[in-house]
Amino acid sequence: MSGDPLVVFTPSGKRGTFPVGTPVLTAARQLGVDLDSVCGGRGICSKCQITPSYGEFSKHGVTAHQDALSEWNSVEQRYDDKRGLKEGRRLGCQATIQGDIVIDVPEESQVHKQVIRKAASARAITMDPATKLYFIEVAEPDMHTPTGDLERVSRALKEQWDIDNVRADLNILRKLQPTLRKGKWQISVALYQGHNEDHARILDVWPGLYEGGLYGLAIDLGSTTVAAHLCDLVTGEVKASSGLMNPQIRFGEDLMSRVSYVMMNPGGDVEMTTAVRTAINGLTEAIATEAEVDPNTIFETVFVCNPVMHHLLLGIDPVELGQAPFALATSESMSLNACDMDLHAMNDNARVYILPCIAGHVGADAAAVALSEQPGKSDDLVLVVDVGTNAEILLGDKDRVLACSSPTGPAFEGAQISSGQRAAPGAIERLEINPETKEPRFRVIGSDIWSDEEGFDLAIATTGITGICGSGIIEAVAEMRIAGLLDESGLIGSAEQTGTQRAIPEGRTHSYLIHDASEDGGPRITVTQGDIRAIQLAKSALYAGARLLMDERGVDKVDRVVLAGAFGAHISPKHAMVLGMIPDAPLDMVTSAGNAAGTGARIALCNVAARAEIEAMVSEITKVETAIEPKFQEHFVNANAIPHKTDPFPELGKIVTIPNVSFNTGGGDPSTGGRRRRRRG
Ligand code: FES
Repeated sequence: MSGDPLVVFTPSGKRGTFPVGTPVLTAARQLGVDLDSVCGGRGICSKCQITPSYGEFSKHGVTAHQDALSEWNSVEQRYDDKRGLKEGRRLGCQATIQGDIVIDVPEESQVHKQVIRKAASARAITMDPATKLYFIEVAEPDMHTPTGDLERVSRALKEQWDIDNVRADLNILRKLQPTLRKGKWQISVALYQGHNEDHARILDVWPGLYEGGLYGLAIDLGSTTVAAHLCDLVTGEVKASSGLMNPQIRFGEDLMSRVSYVMMNPGGDVEMTTAVRTAINGLTEAIATEAEVDPNTIFETVFVCNPVMHHLLLGIDPVELGQAPFALATSESMSLNACDMDLHAMNDNARVYILPCIAGHVGADAAAVALSEQPGKSDDLVLVVDVGTNAEILLGDKDRVLACSSPTGPAFEGAQISSGQRAAPGAIERLEINPETKEPRFRVIGSDIWSDEEGFDLAIATTGITGICGSGIIEAVAEMRIAGLLDESGLIGSAEQTGTQRAIPEGRTHSYLIHDASEDGGPRITVTQGDIRAIQLAKSALYAGARLLMDERGVDKVDRVVLAGAFGAHISPKHAMVLGMIPDAPLDMVTSAGNAAGTGARIALCNVAARAEIEAMVSEITKVETAIEPKFQEHFVNANAIPHKTDPFPELGKIVTIPNVSFNTGGGDPSTGGRRRRRRG
């Protein structure tokens, strides 16, 4: 047992004895304490800040005296003068151990910091990105032992950071010589170390210590919308989030119509590939401008997408995905150069990672949901539903996870709805209908005030009331059913049948009037019979997909339901259940996970080990193909009624009473929507 001072690090609790004079950074490294350093202890990066604690710590068995660390030195003073060190902080590479001490490593000095996610059930993201920054001192060239600059950079990375096998592209070689000389043989290197590569790649170099930040994009490329998060690759902070409509919509609203477009129009796949890549470049520029980040500092992009989007993004003809057996060009993850995909609005050497696909119709977006929500680690049986133009559905627990994708169509995103719109300020997102008076009250995005409350007109003065978004239409249809305006088959009653003048005739059918500003040149917002049919098709497809997985698993009920997707975050569980969108479950067991696919993309962006994790996880998931499963049709037809007719829904009965009305006057269903052929999309 040595008489060396005892050092205890918090919050890790790691402890050890070290000779007097050992730098705190060295002690931390020897104990495996997570203390950051970019400059390798040269006193220039300030990443190694620590907070020493003095006094008596009986919990740790340590008494720390004021002289337990070396005196404040000139390097720390210089840093403090220039940038300012927080009260009580020291630089871990400068302060040396003189006596027993307790040392706290603050959050911002930890390399593998945890990024807290908002949803209570969600796991934190541990920062460990594939691209990191290293500061090195490189030996100067010597005529007597001739070596190239890159070889000496590699040697410095090996000696100073223990990194082997470094490669650089030609554009880095061109930059390397002036950078080394400008930095007086001290440079910073952005280094990418992929999880499945045996070498590291230099993505960029800067003279001296680079402090301009490293950023990455997590992109959820959906059929209808493209959503991007710009993340700081050091802190994990989301600097900005932005989205746009997928420009491929002009070639077809759903996936199958886009595949058909390619079949009928030679070269159509190239058109769509160009359209989406151009849009992603535009989105990258916009999000970088919004976050005031130089696009050249974006070094990585992670994509999650369904199989058709996956192929079109990569420039692969998607026709095989339009017909059985739905063969993917590859279902494995992809690690690529962004420039090979014409993604030029980021660093020239930026890398792209695309999560693996699960099956021909179950894409990398479903894999991202699995990564984010981890159904395979759940003790109870959880159904995870990511609602978009396609619904990605996962059912599982620790024993087994099943996945499928169901063609809900774009109705849940406000498309194909007469007054529908994307979720944006001015869109009706919440709606209630008084069962007595049949009068609606609603809230629009951008205001918390209900339409029958004081101050509503003022609150919506800038946004107006522009339409109804996905969550709004779900609530509207469910509320119409609860208020007796709609019967079980989905027919809207007439004014005489329902007792309200808001039921207005429209051809042979009826609509329900929510808001009419047409006298002032504004919109007239209604829910039409066609809207009800579109929602019925969507919800039946969703329910049938979930049911199919439950059949496969041999269960009639699930313990929990997680609604994911940007839209899933806003669906009211009660209304989803009235509609019969999801299987019966206690209301408090229906939770929202926000944009789980986007979160999965962020996890894979910020933590390189998560890429290996999801690749392994996907290989274990049982894929269920809805398109060829006869039971799917049966479940689909059974799910048409509002609420669901054949399945027992005891939980629903506890929360709401559904009136027993029927508006079918014997003339058959006047709409054709119920018999419309469904298309996968
Ligand atoms: S390690 Fe860079 S300042 Fe201490």
